[in-house]
Amino acid sequence: MNKYFTFDDENRSIRIHRFDTPCPWLNYLSNGRLHAFVSNAGGGFAWWKSPVIMRLTRYRQYNLPLDTPGFYVYIREADGICWSPTMRPCETALDSFEARHRPGWSEFAASKNGVEAALSYFIPPDYDAIVWDLKLTNRRTERVSLDIFPYTEFSQFEFEREVLWGYYVKLMLRTWFDAGAETLNYLFHAQGSPREDEVPLVYLSSTHPVISYSGDRDDFIGDYRSERNPVSIGRNHCGNSLIECGQPAAALQNHVELAAGESVTVRYFLGAVPGIMRDFDGTIAVQREVIGRLRTPGVIEEQKDKMQRWWDEHFDVMQCGIPDVPAQRQINIWNPINSVVTGRYSRSVNTWAPGIRGVGYRDTCQDMLAIAYRRPKWAADTMKYLMSQQFADGHATHTSYPEERKPSVPATTMHSDDHLWLPLLANAILAETGDYSLLEDQVPYLTDDGAGETGGASVWEHLMQAVEFTETHRGIHALPLTLKSDWNDIIGRFAKKGRGETVFAGQQYVLALRYLIEIAQASGKTDDRAKLVDCCKRMENALLACAWDGAWWLRAFDDDAVPVGSNQCAEGKLFLNPQSWAVLSGVGSREQLVAGMDSAARILDTGIGLKLLHPSFSSWEGESTAKLRGYAPGCGENGAIFCHANTWAVIAEALLGRAGNAWKYFTQLLPANAFEKVGATRYRAEPYAWVSNIVGPDNNRFGWANVEQISGTAPWMDVAATQYLLGVRPQIAGLRIDPCMPADWKEITITRHYRGCLLDIRIKNPRGVQKGIASLTVDGKPTDMGSGPIIPPTVLYGKKNVSVEALMG
Ligand code: GLC
Repeated sequence: MNKYFTFDDENRSIRIHRFDTPCPWLNYLSNGRLHAFVSNAGGGFAWWKSPVIMRLTRYRQYNLPLDTPGFYVYIREADGICWSPTMRPCETALDSFEARHRPGWSEFAASKNGVEAALSYFIPPDYDAIVWDLKLTNRRTERVSLDIFPYTEFSQFEFEREVLWGYYVKLMLRTWFDAGAETLNYLFHAQGSPREDEVPLVYLSSTHPVISYSGDRDDFIGDYRSERNPVSIGRNHCGNSLIECGQPAAALQNHVELAAGESVTVRYFLGAVPGIMRDFDGTIAVQREVIGRLRTPGVIEEQKDKMQRWWDEHFDVMQCGIPDVPAQRQINIWNPINSVVTGRYSRSVNTWAPGIRGVGYRDTCQDMLAIAYRRPKWAADTMKYLMSQQFADGHATHTSYPEERKPSVPATTMHSDDHLWLPLLANAILAETGDYSLLEDQVPYLTDDGAGETGGASVWEHLMQAVEFTETHRGIHALPLTLKSDWNDIIGRFAKKGRGETVFAGQQYVLALRYLIEIAQASGKTDDRAKLVDCCKRMENALLACAWDGAWWLRAFDDDAVPVGSNQCAEGKLFLNPQSWAVLSGVGSREQLVAGMDSAARILDTGIGLKLLHPSFSSWEGESTAKLRGYAPGCGENGAIFCHANTWAVIAEALLGRAGNAWKYFTQLLPANAFEKVGATRYRAEPYAWVSNIVGPDNNRFGWANVEQISGTAPWMDVAATQYLLGVRPQIAGLRIDPCMPADWKEITITRHYRGCLLDIRIKNPRGVQKGIASLTVDGKPTDMGSGPIIPPTVLYGKKNVSVEALMG
């Protein structure tokens, strides 16, 4: 058995056997308003709506020891021995310990000297509180007497203010105990943000009588101690200390006596109720009502079922049966979970990321590609939000803060790619739903200062305006100007004078145009269609005229029109993205497309994943005048194995029909495979969640995984696997069934909900090909393959279930 974990696919979970994994392994809990993450050691924090301005509890992202504090429970025996079901913070040796992450909840099973604890954390869909559900069982032959202390440290809400101004802000808060409700309350008199009417009352409540409490971290813990050995636990009393300034926390004490064989369930609710600064008594009344409901027998169970149903529905949209167990597990279970994480949190919050990044425009656009086929309404609402962050000239604001009501990062950061992701997202949504009325919905533009709304335009006009911006921002090769960057955050270093051009965004633009042309066609926008066809032809020609380097595609032109990513360059000769995106956009001859991907396979593949470029730019002053200086060699955009970019190589190889490469690029990066191959202590990330990048071989930390969970790798791997490898791809014309799979796979099965119908899909491969559908039947009737292996929606009208058989060959 792997010493760290075991997957339990039947229960869609991972059992983690240790708390001291090489980094915290996170699970995100959320009901869409209240959010938290919890690690396999009980570390983590909670935020309400925004991790920027409404952090309810603390988590010290740069602390040692790592992963503190969290949602802690101390169990104290009468003799003073104390332990925690999450191992942390006590770290007292236990007789057994296991953490288990599941979609929407985490649970811990631990035992010590015949006392068993089962502790789970989840957020009910209808109540803004984290439920800590603790069941204790006495397996001894004699009675046991236990004191239980839940503990969490409160935050001052706004992260940056807390870090910079906490030494003043600590004078603006108060904790008090509500004996009637067995609840410790916390009120932070925030000035500025969050807005006064949104400031939440925060609380920790217990279902059992509270025999002591503390609202004062320092008094609870004691001088020069830590959460590991609080003075209060030693003296078996929380001290009943409350504060009107200082470091707020919530600790409670319950006492239980258990006869031999007896069990007890004790629950804690860590919650938030807005409005306390506006209407104190009214807010307290609401809070008591909420707590009362949460304590009502059956409510927690019902809420857990409701949460579970949400996830079941989410998974059920598409499931596969394939001969590769790790790949199947990732596709069926962990990809959808990870895509929900990125869909909710963009690139903002994990063990290392404190939450301050807000919504990245390009990032969230890409994240929604994996949401579009499972939850099209969520994706459509988000797309409209993103369109409200587009300026009237068509470009988009790079970062925005919907919950924080902070102005978006203003127009100075103009990027060549941000707005061009919109057509990809619109295509993904419309291909799934077929509901073109979305195109007519009105969305305002953003004012030039990034602070307000101006004018209204339809969704379609927003898309056309994105085209307009790229059309009017092209350079001397007629390629898009790089501006501040394209997808690659630092490629703009080649374009500081504003003249540099990007091949990647040119290819992205062509793909965007191809989708728009189809949408225009399907929705009867004839004039616009003609214009789009023109733009597309021009950009294709521009790329063909200047971007081929002989054995691969160039990456860019710098301000002086010197090629970047050419064999002529000393550093950064070959970049991955233009090779894969040539295939995605379909610009180039088959020979060129294959040659580009062959060069990538030959030069960039490390056996773990493909490097973003080769060779890395030397980075240090004196050694190098390279423009990409900054990231150390092999790190980040300077030659790491950029997993996010590997996803497009998977798609490109699948489109080329080369299953060997396509599946290799997918499976070698599967988190569990990379974890295994690199080794847990070198890899240092979860074996179930994607990372943004892995340090490349040009660096002695080769194999170290970075930016866990919150990366575009997650949605794109989800899309690459379901829509290109398995090949079940929603398109404007219908559902395409066009897999690319290892020749020795004889049969795969897929269930897919599409337009209200459940498709039971069986793909057979008797001739052992890698790609190509010879025939496609729906309920035994052959479909017309005139425009490819596509099931038109009309075939499904009025049906709840159909069986589909696709014969490869
Ligand atoms: C990071 C950024 C993302 C960018 C990528 C490549 O993941 O969050 O916006 O596209 O790096 O530079």
